[in-house]
Order: sequence, then C-alpha cells, then structure tokens
Amino acid sequence: MPSLRVKVDGLDLPNPFIIGSGPPGTNANVISKAFDEGWGGVIAKTVSLDASKVINVAPRYARMRAQGTREVIGWENIELISDRPFEVWEDEFKKIKDKYPDRCLIASIMEECTKDAWIELVERCQACGVDAFELNFSCPHGLPERKMGAAMGQCPEILTEVCQWVMQAATIPVWAKMTPNITHITEPARASLDAGCHGIAAINTILSVMGVNLETLRPEPTVEGYSVPGGYSCKAVRPIALRMVMELATMMYGGGSGSPISTDEHPTFKGDFPDRSLSAIGGVESGEDAAQFILMGAQTVQVCTGVMIHGYSLVKTMQDQLLAFMEKHNFETIEDFRGHSLRYFTTHAELVRRQAEVKAAEKAARAGIVTKDTAWEGDKFVEQSDKLVSNQDE
Ligand SMILES: Cc1cc2nc3c(=O)[nH]c(=O)nc-3n(C[C@H](O)[C@H](O)[C@H](O)COP(=O)(O)O)c2cc1C
Repeated sequence: MPSLRVKVDGLDLPNPFIIGSGPPGTNANVISKAFDEGWGGVIAKTVSLDASKVINVAPRYARMRAQGTREVIGWENIELISDRPFEVWEDEFKKIKDKYPDRCLIASIMEECTKDAWIELVERCQACGVDAFELNFSCPHGLPERKMGAAMGQCPEILTEVCQWVMQAATIPVWAKMTPNITHITEPARASLDAGCHGIAAINTILSVMGVNLETLRPEPTVEGYSVPGGYSCKAVRPIALRMVMELATMMYGGGSGSPISTDEHPTFKGDFPDRSLSAIGGVESGEDAAQFILMGAQTVQVCTGVMIHGYSLVKTMQDQLLAFMEKHNFETIEDFRGHSLRYFTTHAELVRRQAEVKAAEKAARAGIVTKDTAWEGDKFVEQSDKLVSNQDE
C-alpha cells in the first residue's frame, strides 16, 4: 500500500492535502472540522494586527456554471482577509494546537509595509504555537488599495525587504504565497527565496470580472449597484495554476527547455533552489488534480473553493483517488513521482525537430530504407542493400 505521508520543511503531514487560506479555515470551529475529516494541514484565513480596518461586503461571491448544468467551474470573490480581531485568533490558534498538537496549523499573515508590524505579527503568532507561516503577498482585491497583498507581491524589491524582516523573527518554516496577476511569477518567488523563505505557495486568485447582468447592466457581484474586479478560483483556473507551478518548479528544481531533471543526460542540473518547498493551489477538487500538481513538482496541494463546493469530506475521496493513481503506477511515496513530468517540457523549436525526425524515419521505413541495424531482414537483404546504394544508375 503506497504512503501519502509528506515531510516538508520539517513538517510531518499525514497526506499532502492542505486547506488553502480562505473561508474553510476561518475560525477554530471549521479548522477543527478539517482536522477531524483528515486534512493533512490547515492554512488559516489571513490575519493582520488590526482587523477593524477590514470591512467586508455582501454579496461578495459570484459563480460560473458549466453551460446547461449545475456544475460550478469558476468562482469570483471580493472577500478581504479575516475581519476577526487578532486577539481572538491568538486565543483560537492556542486552543487548536492544544486540541491537535500533532496536526499542522499554518498561519497566513499580511500587514502593511512596516517592519515593526510584520515582526509583531510573526512573534505573536509564533507564541501561539502555530507550525508555519504563509505570507499573503497575493490577495488581488481590496487590500492592494492599502498597498498590501498583491501590491507587495508584484514588486520583488518590496518582497525582498518584507521577507527579510519576517525571516529575522521567524523560528518556524515560512512560505511566500504568490499572485498570478504578474507577467513572470518566478521573479517575486526568486526574491522571496533569496531573502530566505523556505518555500513558495502558488497561486492565489486571478483578477477577474465575473460578468455583467444584461437586465440591470451592472457588473457582478453587485453591491449597492456597483462592483470591483475580484479574484477568480475553482477548476477554471487549474490550467493556469499548473503552468505557473511548472514555471516555479523549473526555476527551483530544474527541468524544462530541453533540460530534463534527474536523467543521465543532465545529472547535475538541479535548478536554483533544489531544497526549497512548493505548495500548489488552484482548482483542485480530486486526487487526480492533485497528482498533476505533484508531477509538476509540488510537495503539497491546497484546496479552498473545492471545500466551499463539496465540503470537508472531499479529502477522503481525494486520498482514495491519489492512492489509486499511485498504485496504478507502482509509486510508493509522493517523492517517487514528484516533478516527474517537468522533464517533458521543452522549447517549440525542439518539438519541431523531434517531429521532423519521426516523420523522416516513417518516410524511410515506408520506402524500405534501412536506417537502423535492427531493420535488416534476411528475405529482403539484397533489396535493402540496393536501396542504400548512392550511385544507383552506374
Ligand atoms: C472566498 C475566498 C477567500 C479567500 N481568502 C483568502 C485569504 O484570506 N488569504 C489567502 O491567502 N488566500 C485567500 N483565497 C485564495 C485561496 O487560498 C486560493 O489561493 C485560490 O482560491 C485558488 O485555489 P482554489 O481554486 O482551490 O480556491 C481566498 C479564496 C476564496 C475563494
């Protein structure tokens, strides 16, 4: 029987499935539910020191369904970070860790660009016994108006500074969560890793406008007749998340562009951050989805919207599906296949070259021309020899 256990940055998780920061980790009650159902870890809803500045609106979600069905494929939110007082969170972090000492509780934190605020936030969370941090440099709506979230994540220089502050104070693992609303996601990731962060989490939501109501002519979600672009999640974003995780893994672990990892051809090409971790997020709802992110290099896989649609028991199905995939391929551990598929990315020019090579071989075979020694046949030996003669007419 394969094992789903994952050891990452010194954290020991029973499986790679982590609740992504958002409503499914928004208070002690729901976090307890997640642990009871068997989630490998929980990243709590993002906290900041002064929750009085966080004022949410309703409605704040909008859904996209597949045409003609009830299936939800896209989800937009204009929700902010936690609006619950930090003192309440401190109390709940302690209570959760008292109740689940062996389970992995990760605090997602965000602050304004002030050294004292970040250090205070880190130290106070740590004092509550949380196991790791995720730095929210990625919320794309509302918070950037206060120069927080994605506003920081889009500026590698600021990230370097903030990550250095955090790393001065942190005594537990730190993951930096990236925004996809940027041309090259590897740039802020590199800045965070250079500043000492243990790992990268990606992606947060993609800035979006869900649609326009053709009766009222107002964009959705509509609050008192007005709207604001929000964050898009759910299975519709998965291909984009896979691409960004692939780019991050290639930068961190190697592979891609015709340079496969861990092969005889390239035994030493390891990427720039081979020992750092990668937590993948975006549209995961099944064990098969998770397997794809692990094949792209991730150690852990986070789920947020999927839990809002299917509930906490989703983790049981996902574990069964991931185990079935591993059994089928004879993989014993997550590490056995992590990053395996990165080696199959290359350049377009290389695709063209490979295709031309195959076509030339097929053409030669059709014409009966021997291109490999294995193609020689006793009955056609003279004919095959003849076809290889250069000066046919002499
Ligand atoms: C309603 C909602 C609230 C969210 N709040 C947060 C948050 O507070 N902090 C954060 O880092 N990400 C937040 N996210 C982003 C998710 O953690 C995740 O990165 C994103 O939704 C993509 O994953 P998914 O498709 O599994 O939801 C939120 C997402 C949703 C849908």
